[in-house]
Amino acid sequence: MKHGTPTPSGPARPGAGTGGRRLLITAGPTHEPIDAVRFIGNRSSGRLGVALADEAARRDWSVTLLLGPTGIVPTDSRVAVHRFRTASDLQGLLREHVAVADVLVMAAAVADYRPKVDPAFLGGKFRRENQRMTLELEATPDLLAQTAADRKPGQLLVGFALEPRDELERSAREKLARKGVDLVVANPLETMDSPMIEALVLGADGSEARTGGLLSKAEFAGWLMSLLEARLGATG
Ligand code: CTP
Repeated sequence: MKHGTPTPSGPARPGAGTGGRRLLITAGPTHEPIDAVRFIGNRSSGRLGVALADEAARRDWSVTLLLGPTGIVPTDSRVAVHRFRTASDLQGLLREHVAVADVLVMAAAVADYRPKVDPAFLGGKFRRENQRMTLELEATPDLLAQTAADRKPGQLLVGFALEPRDELERSAREKLARKGVDLVVANPLETMDSPMIEALVLGADGSEARTGGLLSKAEFAGWLMSLLEARLGATG
């Protein structure tokens, strides 16, 4: 595997929408380096998070998007974009941006494990030496659970759960409780890197909503933003 494009983070600034509501979205994959030219990644395109960012900006929210290594970017220039590459980069960006958000949507496909490599080696390259090599992995922090634990009163936190279809609802309910979030958007594994999505949204308050079939990710962004706006409206 080869590295994607470098993903430097721009200077911190709030989303430029004029709306009073502030949305922070994480989207896209992470790339966890093995050496200077290889990484462990995943097939997330970031399309859904980017569509949500565009839709929210169109609805006049102030939007900040923390975006992983992907070529898909928002079209609305009012979205403030900061790039990350690793789970650790994303953790730093979240620390910087989380406090001012009213709603957080954590759609990024964050690695659960990363190679345990000597940082001094990350500038170099593994050579072919033996018939077999072992890569040791270490757990990354669960950013969603951490964010849930540290959040300010009143912040609405939305997590995602990408699950095999036959375990979708059971796993999503388990994640809703374990991660301490307000809403979990559960979608089947086929959603990753696809232009379409079918989702079940479960709320910690017992609420439940279904798309009732496949939607394009742009259509889904409208559907989810309406659901969030209705929920915020209902809670004042
Ligand atoms: N997530 C995160 N930090 C991680 C792993 C996941 O913030 N290190 C977030 C994702 O952004 C998503 C949610 O947790 O909103 C669920 O991700 P998922 O990979 O489905 O759940 P895991 O906690 O990794 O559980 P498992 O892999 O066992 O299903």
